[in-house]
Order: sequence, then C-alpha cells, then structure tokens
Amino acid sequence: FSLYPCWHLLSLVFLLVAILTGQNCTFQLQGPNGTVESPGFPYGYPNYANCTWTITAEDQHRIQLVFQSFALEEDFDVLSVFDGLPQPENLRTRLTGFQLPATIVSAATTLSLRLISDYAVSAQGFHASYEVLPSHTCGNPGRLPNGVQQGSTFNLGDKVRYSCNPGFFLEGHAVLTCHASSENSATWDFPLPSCRADDACGGTLRGQSGIISSPHFPAEYHNNADCTWTILAELGDTIALVFIDFQLEDGYDFLEVTGTEGSSLWFTGASLPAPVISSKNWLRLHFTSDGNHRQRGFSAQYQGRRAGLRCFLGQQQTGHLEPSCPQMGPMWLPCVLASVALF
Ligand SMILES: *[C@@H]1O[C@H](CO)[C@@H](O)[C@H](O)[C@H]1NC(C)=O
Ligand SMILES: *[C@@H]1O[C@H](CO)[C@@H](O)[C@H](O)[C@H]1NC(C)=O
Ligand SMILES: *[C@@H]1O[C@H](CO)[C@@H](O)[C@H](O)[C@H]1NC(C)=O
Repeated sequence: FSLYPCWHLLSLVFLLVAILTGQNCTFQLQGPNGTVESPGFPYGYPNYANCTWTITAEDQHRIQLVFQSFALEEDFDVLSVFDGLPQPENLRTRLTGFQLPATIVSAATTLSLRLISDYAVSAQGFHASYEVLPSHTCGNPGRLPNGVQQGSTFNLGDKVRYSCNPGFFLEGHAVLTCHASSENSATWDFPLPSCRADDACGGTLRGQSGIISSPHFPAEYHNNADCTWTILAELGDTIALVFIDFQLEDGYDFLEVTGTEGSSLWFTGASLPAPVISSKNWLRLHFTSDGNHRQRGFSAQYQGRRAGLRCFLGQQQTGHLEPSCPQMGPMWLPCVLASVALF
C-alpha cells in the first residue's frame, strides 16, 4: 500500500483548483476612487494568474493610480499597465520586482492593469488606489525614491520641485510645471526625475546631439542592470533617436522609450529599431536586464530638432535630404520634406 497515488491525485486537484480560480479574474471598476489589489494580497497571489482590472472614468477625466505596496517575483510575474484597454498597442509600462512604482496618470478615460504570474514562487502582490481627476489637471507626478517632493497642488501652472537625499544626485529636470496640452488636457513639461546613486548607470543629456550606449558597450552589459537616461531639449523642440546597434536578450532584457506619441515603445531581441522621434521636448530610455544571459547591448545617437526646423527623420531611403538636415555621425539620415510630413 502506498500513499503516492493519493498525493498525486491531491496535488492534481489543487492544481485544477488553482487554474480554475485563476481563470476568471476580471474586474471592471468605476466611480470617483477605489482600490486595486492582487488576489490574496498581502498573503501572496496565485500561480498562473491572469487578472485584468479596467478602470473607466467619465468623459473629460483621467485616472491617477498610486501604489502603496508592490512585490512581484522579479522578471517572472509582471503587472502590465495599459493606457486604454488591455491591448498590446496600449502598453504603458511593465512592472515587476520589489520597487514601489511611480504614480501613473492615464492619458484618457481608461486605465487597465493585467497581472500575469508564472507557475511558481509568488510574492506579496500589490495594492494601489486610484482617483478620477478632471482632465485639465496634471495629477501628482509622484514621489521620488531617495528624494523629496515640494509642491502639493497639481493644476495648470503649478510647479513641483524635486531634490535628492544626501548621497544621491538628481537625473532629469528638477522642476516640473503643469502645462495645457491638446484637447482640454494638461501634462507636466518634463518626466519625473530620478535620484541616482553615485555608481549607477544612466544620466541626463542636454546637448544638441550625443550617443547613448548600454553599460560596457560594445562588450556585454551586466545582469540586473537598471539604467535610465533622460534627454532634455528646450520647450517646443523635439528629439530624434537613431539606433546604430541593438542586441538584447529576447523577451527578458528590455529598452523602454517614453516621450513619443502614444504609449511607450518597448524593444528587445536583435532587430534594429526604427528611428524614434519624440512628441515632446524630452525622451527617456529605461534599460533593464534580468539575472542571466548578457548580450552586446545597444548604442543610439540622439539629435535635438529645433522647433520649426524643416527636417524630418524618416526610414525610407528615398527621402529628400534638405540642406538644414544635420549630418549625424558617420551617416546621413534620410529626410522627408517638412511640406510632406507636416502640412
Ligand atoms: C468572469 O467575470 C466577469 C465579470 O465578473 C463576467 O462578466 C464573466 O461572465 C465571467 N466569465 C466567466 C467565464 O465566468
Ligand atoms: C474615496 O473618497 C472618499 C471621499 O474623499 C473617502 O472617504 C474614501 O475613503 C475614499 N475611498 C478610497 C477607497 O480611497
Ligand atoms: C490573459 O487573459 C486575456 C483575456 O482573457 C487573454 O487575452 C490573454 O492572452 C491571457 N494572457 C495569458 C498570458 O494567458
């Protein structure tokens, strides 16, 4: 007589229960405020979870999401945040690990979250609260890890100042101002800065042009890298980013670029991304690598574009090259006439 078949049966039952309970995990949220938390919080979320929360506000409103607690098995369990419905083209950011994420303010009336966990090892999970704001306010840009926020109103014209604790220095722009943007909406003029320890990678770049490369490029980057670069231009100017080389571990190491039209861009794998043009006067690059398999990394050249300069970067090789188009490094970038691209 052996207990083994019983144990197997029992674990099979548990597995089925886990799969079945994990299967329908869909939440539709409305109203002026509320909370979102992973199933079982704070005692751990299930394996194989696929949970979706969709928060919807009324017209002319947006949603501000503030995390109070966050712990997901790093790189394997991921909370994706979508600016809109949970579709790949709306992906705003992927959150994993144990750092409290920054505040997220939706661009429009819908914000969605999707938690996907793998087959093993869960952590505490997350807990966040949301609040619906009128769309003509900016919302709280968020607290700064290892820093201090000054300013507590977030309406048009308001300013928020950031400074870093001793031992850290500020990357990005220290003062954010809430500006009117299109369609009765408002946005901060710069992204949330960050406080960087002396030895961390990343940086703030302000010149007309320059190069950003992953750590040690062209040698391999390190495991568990987490680098943020912020390129800043004058208000009204835009920034072009052209990749020269790109090789990341596919699906595990990522470069996220924000500051473009729509949601952020995510790059991984070995294909050279198309040139990126900012929609604002800044671009932010966030590079993360997981705990193994290092690759060569990436190198990209950025170039500020003066407001009104009649030069447009394009991918097509047949583009017309205007005299005002700057030569970037060893190559000429194909340009399209502004009259085609803008008017
Ligand atoms: C899952 O839950 C949602 C919302 O509560 C409900 O509308 C839907 O019918 C459920 N689906 C299944 C397969 O049970
Ligand atoms: C929602 O707002 C009301 C009024 O400000 C407050 O009393 C309540 O605690 C809030 N609820 C949540 C879940 O934050
Ligand atoms: C999670 O569920 C959604 C909708 O039910 C589905 O489209 C998606 O493919 C699922 N994702 C995974 C990783 O199972």
